[in-house]
Amino acid sequence: MLRKNPFQLKVLPVDAPFCNRVKELKELAGYGYSGTSAVVYSPRREGKTSLVNRVQNRLSEEGCITVKTDFFSVFSIDDIASRLAKAVFTETKRHESWYLKAINTIKSFRPVFQPDPSGGVSLSITPASGKTGFDLLEDVMNSLQQLAETLEHPVNIFIDEFQEIADLKESAKIEATLRTYMQETKASFFFVGSRRRILFDMFNEKSRPFYRMAVNYPVYKIEQDELAKWIEEQFQNNGVICGSLSKDLVKLAHSHTYYVQKLGMLAFSITDTTLTAEILKQAYIDMLESEKTVFEESYLKPLAPSQRNLLIALAKENTAKPLAKDYVKRNNLPATSTIQSAIVALLNHDLIQMENGIYTLVDKVFQDYLISTY
Ligand SMILES: Nc1ncnc2c1ncn2[C@@H]1O[C@H](COP(=O)(O)OP(=O)(O)OP(=O)(O)O)[C@@H](O)[C@H]1O
Ligand SMILES: [Mg+2]
Repeated sequence: MLRKNPFQLKVLPVDAPFCNRVKELKELAGYGYSGTSAVVYSPRREGKTSLVNRVQNRLSEEGCITVKTDFFSVFSIDDIASRLAKAVFTETKRHESWYLKAINTIKSFRPVFQPDPSGGVSLSITPASGKTGFDLLEDVMNSLQQLAETLEHPVNIFIDEFQEIADLKESAKIEATLRTYMQETKASFFFVGSRRRILFDMFNEKSRPFYRMAVNYPVYKIEQDELAKWIEEQFQNNGVICGSLSKDLVKLAHSHTYYVQKLGMLAFSITDTTLTAEILKQAYIDMLESEKTVFEESYLKPLAPSQRNLLIALAKENTAKPLAKDYVKRNNLPATSTIQSAIVALLNHDLIQMENGIYTLVDKVFQDYLISTY
């Protein structure tokens, strides 16, 4: 008989089992409800999107209008404008009077709803004003501002992967344009992203338009004991005994939500009724094998040789002084200036970080992989 595996690798739906984050949910919902914006960041796959979705769900239950968009791979100014407009139409469609206001205010795009093959309705939008570039973006931002004024409910706008605008050619002017309208509007924003350095600098460097526009909100790892308790429950609720091995599972996954889910999923799928240390070990081997392509192709392959060598050196030996003579010699690293620029690149990609004055890898499972492979 097929059994339902309780562990999931994707963004968690709001009704899926969810470990803790009670404090974060309360704080962020409080910000959104009172019109305060927040910049929410953590390393990759630590649960930001799942968390902020829940926060918006809570806000929605309280009567707020919650708009959500994603700037992942955003490729132009027009694209930013269109993603924002589409998100507003999608959310306001829930309520006739909101939707009418949205249509009457956002004039630069027209929404088109069509039945989709799955039986639902899909929304696309078509440009309607002939405006492009900054004229279009200003138009959309201006209408958003007006719309937030006319709607009688608090408006919260969640922009996932917000830092992606920094990769666009005209990023400085885009930041300045967005800021002009965002600071005037009644709506609150959640700016969410995983390239922490890029996102953090955007909001914390004095010279940048978004300087102090939002509360800094780092999302930290969930406590080991909380995770272990939650995992044990998931196994138990689905007919598998795991006992204290849940603690080992959390350790192997370095308390990282994605790896916790993945290791849980793999262990569950090869367990009959009782999880054992051997099964867990096998699941861990399976996990590294299945992540290998991501580690090699997405993390390592795009790096310049100097960056790659430094990353592997740091995985094997975390250090406060990667420029020290003996460290450089031991790890066969290049000239000082090359190491310095490699450090900046690895920090920008969020592959390494400073932890208590020491350079370490952000993704500890990746670190384990590098240690065991190179
Ligand atoms: N509170 C939680 N309890 C259990 N699992 C969680 C929790 N939050 C997130 N996860 C799991 O962690 C993984 C990453 O979640 P999510 O996509 O929300 O993170 P993210 O930080 O937005 O990732 P990315 O950096 O890729 O955008 C998913 O497998 C999800 O199921
Ligand atoms: Mg995300």
